[in-house]
Amino acid sequence: MQQEQLAHVGGVVDPWETVGSECTQSVKHVAVGSALYFNASLITVSGEFNMTVRHGRESLVIPGPTTVPDEVLRAMHRPAVDIFDEDLVETTDFCIAHLKQIFRTAGDVYIYAANGHGAWEGALANVLSPGDAVLILNSGRFAEAWGKMADMMNLDVLTLPQDWRHAVDPAQVEERLRADSANQIKAVLVVQVDTASGVVNDIPAIRSAMSAAGHDALLMVDTIASLATMPFEMDAWGVDVSVSGSQKGLMTPPGLSFVAAGERAVAAHETAGLRTRYWDWTSRQGELHPEKYCGTPPEHMLFGLRAALDLLSEEGLDKVITRHRLLAEAVRSAVAVWCEEGVLEFNIIEPCDRANSVTTVLVDKAHDPLALRQYCKEHCGLVLGVGIGDLRGKALRIAHMGHVNAPMMLGALGVIEMGLIALGIPHGSGGAQKAIEYLGKNVKA
Ligand SMILES: Cc1ncc(COP(=O)(O)O)c(C=O)c1O
Repeated sequence: MQQEQLAHVGGVVDPWETVGSECTQSVKHVAVGSALYFNASLITVSGEFNMTVRHGRESLVIPGPTTVPDEVLRAMHRPAVDIFDEDLVETTDFCIAHLKQIFRTAGDVYIYAANGHGAWEGALANVLSPGDAVLILNSGRFAEAWGKMADMMNLDVLTLPQDWRHAVDPAQVEERLRADSANQIKAVLVVQVDTASGVVNDIPAIRSAMSAAGHDALLMVDTIASLATMPFEMDAWGVDVSVSGSQKGLMTPPGLSFVAAGERAVAAHETAGLRTRYWDWTSRQGELHPEKYCGTPPEHMLFGLRAALDLLSEEGLDKVITRHRLLAEAVRSAVAVWCEEGVLEFNIIEPCDRANSVTTVLVDKAHDPLALRQYCKEHCGLVLGVGIGDLRGKALRIAHMGHVNAPMMLGALGVIEMGLIALGIPHGSGGAQKAIEYLGKNVKA
């Protein structure tokens, strides 16, 4: 242990090399095996050489998977049970009932042993037929990817183009749907929060645009990065199909995904030609418990999900959503200060279109976000998200989603600011302080 500590503080040093900089006390070298180490307890240096401060619990601020609470991990740490076990059957019922409350729907909810891509496929397969046209409302990577999946399923994919810096414009949706006078478009696909761009789309406004156009396409919404982080009202907003996943706001490891179906979706399901045995909603309504999963239930994932849903209901969904808003606003107040030097910039231009789950920050060409990510991880134990898709190598992503609180986010901001300093990336100083002030003023005693 002592050897490990020594190695991490000073590393193996050449006895003739200058160690660190500006040593204010003499460095006492000690021999360990054939290597030479210096004794950390005797030195005080400013600008430590090859130093890390990462030991301790690693902190994850990527936009999924997110930090899994200990309660969830503990709930999963148990033996497998019979697939008809009473507690397991109750767990399914509990999870479905709670998921309905979180989707805010009286419709049906299906649980798949799959990631978010699985839920996308399951949603399309249950309500559409080969050759049906779907309209993708682009605003980042994920609507685009859902569209690619639809294309491989022999759907006719139409896209409403949009750059990655703005939310979907409902007026354009209305115009596009008005142009479809023959009602060829059977479904409109949109992502509420796109984790690549950091945008939040206005789902009620998109629904109103569809109604204003007098179009009867189904509205299908990806809530994978928004459920239990931002308001979502499936029934009140007129959403027909919602999809989500376990690994973001729902604080459960990746591996489960969910599809909620409203009345119009259930009606479309009756005649859908893309139905397959695994995804099929009707088959999943069988009497026997394993039928709900088309086979062996993902038992441990369900036990974990139950614990996560317990945590969410203990806190209360409104408070969960408010916590996300406060922490997101704290992050944004720090980022706004860092942006003052012109090197960093919010990806989403309009403040009201910035998601409360993740903030995407552009980094100018002269600086490397991957170097900052590496510094934060290797030196400080903070795993920071970086740009993906079109923003690969051009952005940072700071997630503030799921099992997060003030010390986690303020710690993350402090580390990012530390990295900006260490790497000499120009930024306005005092961003983390601004976040502290924001929370101090808005989280009342
Ligand atoms: C908004 C959104 N939709 C869909 C997905 C895809 O989910 P998965 O990677 O679990 O398949 C992601 C993943 O990050 C996402 O952020």
